[in-house]
Amino acid sequence: MEENEFVEKVKEKIMGQNLTYQIMTFGCQLNENDSEKIAGMLEMVGYTKASEEQIPDILVFNTCCVRENAEERLFGKIGEVKKWKQEKNVVIAIGGCMMQEPQMVDKIKKSYPYVDIIFGTHTTQNLPENIYKTILKNEKVRDILDIDGEIYEDLPIKRKSDAVANVTIMYGCNNFCTYCIVPYVRGRERSRKPEKILEEITDLANKGYKEVTLLGQNVNSYMRTERENGLTTSAIDSFAKLLYEICKIQGIERVKFISPHPKDFTDDVIQAIADLEKVSSMIHLPLQSGNSKVLKEMNRKYTKEQYLALVDKMVQKIPNLSLSTDIIVGFPGETEEEFEDTLDVVRKVNFEQIFMFIYSPREGTVAAKREDQIPETIKHQRFDQLKKLYESKVEANNEKYIGTIHTLFIEGKSKNDDAMFTSRTDTNKVVVFEPKEGFQIGDMVEVEIRENHKWYFKGEIKNKGE
Ligand code: 5AD
Ligand code: SF4
Repeated sequence: MEENEFVEKVKEKIMGQNLTYQIMTFGCQLNENDSEKIAGMLEMVGYTKASEEQIPDILVFNTCCVRENAEERLFGKIGEVKKWKQEKNVVIAIGGCMMQEPQMVDKIKKSYPYVDIIFGTHTTQNLPENIYKTILKNEKVRDILDIDGEIYEDLPIKRKSDAVANVTIMYGCNNFCTYCIVPYVRGRERSRKPEKILEEITDLANKGYKEVTLLGQNVNSYMRTERENGLTTSAIDSFAKLLYEICKIQGIERVKFISPHPKDFTDDVIQAIADLEKVSSMIHLPLQSGNSKVLKEMNRKYTKEQYLALVDKMVQKIPNLSLSTDIIVGFPGETEEEFEDTLDVVRKVNFEQIFMFIYSPREGTVAAKREDQIPETIKHQRFDQLKKLYESKVEANNEKYIGTIHTLFIEGKSKNDDAMFTSRTDTNKVVVFEPKEGFQIGDMVEVEIRENHKWYFKGEIKNKGE
């Protein structure tokens, strides 16, 4: 049967029953974007989104395996929903990165036999077929492929927001940083055709979206593999060129991207960001470690000095640049002196935001096999030390925002207080503010920053933004 025949069969089966779905997403924005496609497929076959209080008829977990704590949270949740299965015979599906790890699939089979569907990162698009097999044929489904990966275009999509959208521009990763599981579970780097990306963003602009975030494990190596293998079919064959094209699309006011890799931050990319006003000057530049020996062992392909030189160059060329970063503490073999280099970079570079991680050994990676793993207590000590330094810098840095006026999009309601609107500054700082008559989600507004709450600001709407 063709995929759309499965869609029709499932539709027919569940028609008129008001069946609902829920998706629980773990991990990064790429997973969030995949979940929007999962939602699109579920709605296509006739499910509607369950309300917060409702037990859904189908529950999909979209999993992450980048660190151990994401895995533990997943197991906790699957255990919790066993009672839903007993009460309501909810269809339970688990997909995403963790399901590309055979030991995890075995664990699910053994410990959670009530799970109906297991699918991997290369088979998400088969969801209608897998639901068909479960609800019409009463089969248990294991749909996992261990391949380099393909690109599936034109899947339906149900986006979370009406104002800001994620657009995946490339899949997979070829870098094999020695701590990272991603290349094993997401396959090799492959870039979407520029025409497809531009078509999607034009369509978003026509629907009123104002901001897009371009996603990929390594966005600035967009089309690199294709270029190296002579497989490009368009003149838009680099990340910089793609940025110029996207910024020509009318209606799109802001373009962000995550994550770039410092080694691919070539001059043309820096020039494009400097030239293009629509491209956010908040750049995520993952450091991982500030020590050249550790960076070498991580297979990051840059040294401390090269990273600092890149930052210098960006500061000079990109007006209003602000930086965020990822840092791992406690990589195998990391000495106190080597960790000091990480603190040194944090002191030297004015990071607006730091995502800090305790090294988590991932089965199958090079670093996990090393014997010189750092004891947990030391990892935590280093984490706390880094956090303290970071917090002191954030507090000092935040003060300069008070009284400043920012042009923002109203992104939605605040997570913690739905009487308030929420948005982010160009530098990715959360700002919450009271709604005001005549202003709604998706509007551009001028907001004055009033109060510093360390991890967010309170502000006040001043005017309509331009
Ligand atoms: N342990 C801790 N942090 C990790 N990251 C990736 N793999 C690991 C790991 N094994 C972090 C990196 C990456 C971010 C998405 O997650 O900092 O940039
Ligand atoms: Fe993992 Fe490195 Fe690839 Fe990022 S670039 S996904 S850290 S292997």
